Amino acid sequence: MKIIHNINEMQHLCADARMQGQKIGFVPTMGALHEGHLKLVDEARRRSDLVAVSIFVNPTQFGPGEDFEKYPRNLDGDAEKLSARGADVIFNPSAGDMYPQNSLTKIHVDTLTNGLCGAHRPGHFDGVALVVTKLFNIIGPCTAVFGRKDYQQLQVIRQFTKDLNLPVSIVGMPTVREADGLAMSSRNAYLTAEERARALSLSRALTDAHALFANGVALLTIEDHIRNNLIASFDSIDYVTLASPDTLVPLEEAQRPPKVLIAVAARIGATRLIDNTVLGEDAPPIGG
Ligand code: PAF
Repeated sequence: MKIIHNINEMQHLCADARMQGQKIGFVPTMGALHEGHLKLVDEARRRSDLVAVSIFVNPTQFGPGEDFEKYPRNLDGDAEKLSARGADVIFNPSAGDMYPQNSLTKIHVDTLTNGLCGAHRPGHFDGVALVVTKLFNIIGPCTAVFGRKDYQQLQVIRQFTKDLNLPVSIVGMPTVREADGLAMSSRNAYLTAEERARALSLSRALTDAHALFANGVALLTIEDHIRNNLIASFDSIDYVTLASPDTLVPLEEAQRPPKVLIAVAARIGATRLIDNTVLGEDAPPIGG
């Protein structure tokens, strides 16, 4: 497995592979890899001949006071995991090469970014859209695999890929969970054992939501149930939103569509956790 830091070298490697008729599978990451990322690599492997994984902690998607500096970084450990999983190349550019001093371009995806994390992390999705567009331009035509845990991110990426006619086919994969239901996240490493135990109430509440929905309970009551559970165990709630899974527009009280996205962001201490489930589509997070 190769590790490439240079943008031109990565572009050439991918172009050469395509010239030889190889299909490229691409998994963009910020490193600190866990089983959730590695399942994306497995899917890329299944669909393609050459698997590229980018590891780049992207400064433009972190706001002031967020965890950019303390975000876990472990290139050697990540490389070991990726090599064991059969990845072919890691792309690990520097921030200086990705964002030269004179770069002036921004990418903004409208409406889809208004709510959920977009409302609580101003500029976050502009940073994601910019870096992912740049990465897609470096890798070139490929199949790119993302996790559905970052549900809004996946929708935003699908949208700008279509809007900008980028030659990339996007695949979304189910959230990977620990045996007790906690959604895997690089940020779980920040939690103490006591905080981690409290965090479980999130996947439990989302699991309850499936049963309540199947029993015809009103959406507002389901939302209250989730909020009440989180209030008891988290330190603060950014949002609990019930929305259309396609447009991410919050549902009105009287609406009851067959599929409902429940997306949550909440904090334990300084750690912000997100999770989601689509009622009427996904299996419940626990026991599903
Ligand atoms: O989901 C992530 O790890 C990041 O947001 C991504 C897509 C790699 C862009 O930096």
